[in-house]
Amino acid sequence: MHVESNEHLILGIESSCDETAAAVVAGGVRVLSNVVASQIDIHRKYGGVVPELASREHLRRIVPVVREATEQAKIKLQDVDAIAVTSGPGLIGALLVGVTYGKVLAQALSKPLVAVNHLEGHVHAVLLEAHAAGRSPKLPAVCLIVSGGHTILYDVRSDSSNGTPHFSYSRIGGTRDDAAGEAYDKVARMLALGYPGGPIIDRLAAHGNPRAVRFGSTKMSSGNPHDFSFSGIKTAVLYHLRRNTQLEPEIEARRQALARGERGAEQLRALSSAETLDLIASFQRTVVEDLITRTFAAAEERGVRTILVSGGVAANSELRRAFDIEAAQRGLEAFFPSRALSTDNAAMIAAAGHARFLAGERADMSLDPSANLPVA
Ligand code: KG4
Ligand code: ZN
Repeated sequence: MHVESNEHLILGIESSCDETAAAVVAGGVRVLSNVVASQIDIHRKYGGVVPELASREHLRRIVPVVREATEQAKIKLQDVDAIAVTSGPGLIGALLVGVTYGKVLAQALSKPLVAVNHLEGHVHAVLLEAHAAGRSPKLPAVCLIVSGGHTILYDVRSDSSNGTPHFSYSRIGGTRDDAAGEAYDKVARMLALGYPGGPIIDRLAAHGNPRAVRFGSTKMSSGNPHDFSFSGIKTAVLYHLRRNTQLEPEIEARRQALARGERGAEQLRALSSAETLDLIASFQRTVVEDLITRTFAAAEERGVRTILVSGGVAANSELRRAFDIEAAQRGLEAFFPSRALSTDNAAMIAAAGHARFLAGERADMSLDPSANLPVA
């Protein structure tokens, strides 16, 4: 791969949850490689990420994943200008693997080490691809990060007054209970649709009527009006299933299909009644509408004209369509990463690390991961 001499090469390392990932990014925007080793097959039978298994798997995968990232980028480890590693938030044992390996590499290669916040990485996933496509989002922006672990709104700004952009983030609101992706995963589990729930619900929802089941909106009486809550909708789906016992035999049929390894959307759709497809579509519509309402309200309140949406749930087809329509109606611009960069990856960590590297930030061997690291 051709690298311009003035472009810095950053190796990104990400291990905060259930993906072991490494990537090489040139100049903060050109992705030379983006390797993700997913652990979904390991966690599937538990219906969620098991922290001890995640740490063990990161340990097994980290060295080959980093090697593959440099091979695909056609560079040597010695060629990188800095190593950027996710230091939080996330599962502490999982983070420890990436941080320790990042420190070892930085020391062995005598390269600078840059600590990156995972959520800041999700913001940069959108910025990186938009810049690469020549569509630079105008900041300030409101960024919705919506994944299995997070549902959070940030105000994102950048200040280039001293030559290099310095990004700053302030939290506007976040979920008080479940993350939106967690609600997708839990509803999929109740309906026996497999794990993770997001992609399958995304596919099946297209075949149901999103206005068939009314769940009522998630009103919160007090506190921050920009907060989210998704435990109510999850409970509403549970009560709906308790009232509609005629759906039990098909849930059992899908459970057996999953046990036989039949996880395909068409296989599960063939075992789903119109009532179930309506329930799925209605669940998805309620979640997407709530995400839209709060995100655009935050943008309006701040007079911000740019919306960024990132994280695993940002891969959702209906969410993308609905955000685009709402943005067009209001004369705003909405940006999403490609599906590959919506879910956890290390290209976004390298891109966020590039900005911090240019700003002169360095971590040293005392760097420790933090499970609840706030974005600063
Ligand atoms: O960002 P991510 O890979 O990991 C976390 O940081 O959590 O997000 C994974 C989450 C899971 O909850 C998964 O169900 C959800 O993102 N997800 C989706 C879609 N693809 C993944 N949710 C809705 N629609 C999708 N297409
Ligand atoms: Zn994430």
